[in-house]
Amino acid sequence: MENPFLGKDVISILDFERRDLEKLFEYADRARKHVERKLRVLEGKVVALAFFEPSTRTRFSFEVAAKKLGADVISVSGEEATSVAKGESLADTVRMLDNYSDLIVIRHRYEGAAKLAAETAESPVINGGDGWQHHPTQAMIDLYTVRDLFGGIDGLKYALLGDLRYGRAITSFLYGLAKFNPSKVYLVSPELLKPREEVLRKLNELGLKYEILTTLDPIIDSVDVIYVSRIQKERFPDPMEYAKVRGSYIVDLKLLSRAKPSLKVLHPLPRVDEISYEVDSTPHAAYFYQAWLAIPVRMALIALILGVEI
Ligand code: NCD
Repeated sequence: MENPFLGKDVISILDFERRDLEKLFEYADRARKHVERKLRVLEGKVVALAFFEPSTRTRFSFEVAAKKLGADVISVSGEEATSVAKGESLADTVRMLDNYSDLIVIRHRYEGAAKLAAETAESPVINGGDGWQHHPTQAMIDLYTVRDLFGGIDGLKYALLGDLRYGRAITSFLYGLAKFNPSKVYLVSPELLKPREEVLRKLNELGLKYEILTTLDPIIDSVDVIYVSRIQKERFPDPMEYAKVRGSYIVDLKLLSRAKPSLKVLHPLPRVDEISYEVDSTPHAAYFYQAWLAIPVRMALIALILGVEI
């Protein structure tokens, strides 16, 4: 079996081709049959979770996924819990984790931290989010969710709403979409939260056609997927800038009353106030299901990287 993930680092979704992602999705379909029980395929292996930035879903779902495959998990959360607080460099910390484990998942507030870890460690490294740059496994889950809900990723109309400037999850999803053939991609955000130039340049290079808008109004009745993201308050260099955009977009029942009945709303979570709670009980809400799919997708990814059949 050809396995494009075997022994590989996962730093950016851009490093993978459509067929690699399709292989992962097939594997995730298989993993779903096993989520109710524990497999033993990774017995004796150790997965290290090095989370230097806050996380709920990414950390827990990686932990559950690794344990479901039979691996042991060691984890650090926050710099204060490790010798980084004593002045140890990230590279030295990674070297230690590399000694103790077979696979490292890292989340860090600095762009490029996962790449540095991958260059330092012999074991494969998965990027669980580096600053505002990449969050490749979230994009894999998000694409898998669309495939699951619509039977495919191509031919749909997507609106990406929110913090396109600092949001790593929404940017990675966008890069992931560029590997497929969406019929339309709308990038919707207040002026201040527009995608960075380097992201737009990359999309042009990849040949993804997009339209930039400041509101959903003109397209709400035609889109199939709205991918919403939180304003990344912690990444704003200036709190005054955050104050200007706070609460500037919201998905609520009033807006959704004009949408297609089949429209699905995705969000990597956590949400703050960008999707009203009243949306949760409508058939449009796909974000909790999306969060659940993190388990089979991450099981599939770990199994493929470590080269075990499930
Ligand atoms: C995202 C993240 O941490 O980048 N969440 C996640 O991993 N599910 C999005 C966010 O924090 O807004």
